[in-house]
Amino acid sequence: MSRSALIVGNWKMYKTVAEGLELATAIKNATAPTVRGREIAVAIAPPFTALYPIGKRLEGSTVALAAQDCFWEAQGAFTGEVSAAMLADVGCRFVIVGHSERRQQFGETDAAVNLKAKAILKAGLSPIICVGETEKERDAGEMRGRIISQLAEGLFGFTSEMAQRSVIAYEPVWAIGTGRVATTEQAQEVHALIRQYLHAQLGEVAQSVRILYGGSVKPNNIAGLMAQPDVDGALVGGASLRAEEFLQIVRFHEAPATS
Ligand code: PGA
Repeated sequence: MSRSALIVGNWKMYKTVAEGLELATAIKNATAPTVRGREIAVAIAPPFTALYPIGKRLEGSTVALAAQDCFWEAQGAFTGEVSAAMLADVGCRFVIVGHSERRQQFGETDAAVNLKAKAILKAGLSPIICVGETEKERDAGEMRGRIISQLAEGLFGFTSEMAQRSVIAYEPVWAIGTGRVATTEQAQEVHALIRQYLHAQLGEVAQSVRILYGGSVKPNNIAGLMAQPDVDGALVGGASLRAEEFLQIVRFHEAPATS
């Protein structure tokens, strides 16, 4: 299994340009492409307003730029929207789609996630496609069905080449911003389910698709999560807003496994 690890910082609606440049610079200066021999890719997803200057600041570094959302049309009269090509133009390599905050607060559907993911791939970028169940769905025994339907619709029409260039993020909604991380067993169970689904649909490519965990990832729980066979990285929210904390997560091999 040769999937390189990927740690992504999702800054959400935080950071001015000046604050973002300071944080990005600290991350850039302290990030090496490998940690104890394992290849670790790092990406940060600032708000739209800070993408261009931060992209410039990251040039020549190993830290990749990511956006938090985009629209699926290439251009047109869509006031307030930003296309995947525009994000490529400012240096993005990844775009997050289907984050539960967008699903819950902005009505993003699986069909929209699918259109966005395809537009992102068409622009030469990699979508980070988020899936995850609510607490109510988990309690009602609907977790597996929910994850599978999000994948089936979100990845509708994907070829194995498209899947290869995509990243999946499992983010249980009940763990986002709550301090309530999934146990390592819960994370592994869903990551394995996602990989099995990808395998059933698209074959061997499933082995090379990176599946990230997101939801209250912190320096003290990252090592336990990363030790799971199907956890290939993390999508980090709150803990990505401070350089020291985020860098401790990136250097998870040195962090204590307490979770
Ligand atoms: P959190 O957010 O790390 O603050 O829980 C994760 C996310 O929303 O991607």
